[in-house]
Amino acid sequence: MTLGFIGIGKITGALIEGLNTSAMERAEILLSPRNEENSAYWAAKYPNVKRGVSNQDVLDRSDIIFIALRPAVAEEVLGGLSFDKRHTVISLIPLLNFAHLAKLTAPAGALCRAIPLPTVITHRCPIPLYNATDTVIRLLGHIGHPLPVADERQLHTLWTLTGLITPFYDLLDALSGWTTANGVAQETANRYIADLFESLSFMAQQSSPIDFKELAAHAATPNGMNEQAGREIREQGAHAAYLNASDHLLRRFAQ
Ligand SMILES: NC(=O)c1ccc[n+]([C@@H]2O[C@H](COP(=O)([O-])OP(=O)(O)OC[C@H]3O[C@@H](n4cnc5c(N)ncnc54)[C@H](OP(=O)(O)O)[C@@H]3O)[C@@H](O)[C@H]2O)c1
Repeated sequence: MTLGFIGIGKITGALIEGLNTSAMERAEILLSPRNEENSAYWAAKYPNVKRGVSNQDVLDRSDIIFIALRPAVAEEVLGGLSFDKRHTVISLIPLLNFAHLAKLTAPAGALCRAIPLPTVITHRCPIPLYNATDTVIRLLGHIGHPLPVADERQLHTLWTLTGLITPFYDLLDALSGWTTANGVAQETANRYIADLFESLSFMAQQSSPIDFKELAAHAATPNGMNEQAGREIREQGAHAAYLNASDHLLRRFAQ
């Protein structure tokens, strides 16, 4: 099985690293020549990674094709390529819907949309999928937790949440600044903040069913710190700001 990649940027780099450091047997990986610096880097790093001479060359020699192009160029690039029935296409492009993708990649035998993130490097990335075959689910299972959804509306809603990565780290950075301003060494502050939120997420992840309201209520001792901060932050509209930003991002998928 040869995995082909069209578009060698940030997410493809993470996928190559994640796949090659996972428990799966190393697959042959063939890269589009562009971006030249990136594809040369990956081909030099791993013996199972090779550069094709063109995008069409990658298609002609691969079975599963990851499309990791920016939305602005995707239509033009895909429209100039010849796909084959044996191809399984995995599109990572947010603003290219399934029907349009199907036209551009016909007669590819299988087509799905996926949302991997750079955390595939840690093999722990949640990966929402639409229309994935068992082969794709098994493959992506090596670098994360595949999460198939039944329709594109759900995929777009989950995709919207990936726009909250910067606000999330921004919040942790603001808390880091507050913690150091109040006397804690930066290394200690950042270690504690990263570990604190990681452990809270881990606890939620382990519960079944996952009930955030219950977890919040459980921590909110009457007159305690969590009850007070929870109320103040909600009343000041912090949650509303996240929900409004999410609404605005979701609208992009309808354009
Ligand atoms: N980054 C993420 O975490 C992430 C997560 C999920 C989905 N995605 C989606 O995945 C896609 C790629 O994202 P990215 O962050 O990896 O972007 P990126 O770093 O900009 O990579 C895009 C790559 O496409 C290449 N490219 C441009 N025109 C091409 C052509 N005609 N033929 C072949 N390659 C061409 C670019 O080369 P040049 O540098 O030479 O222009 C660049 O290497 C986007 O649609 C993005 O929304 C990204």
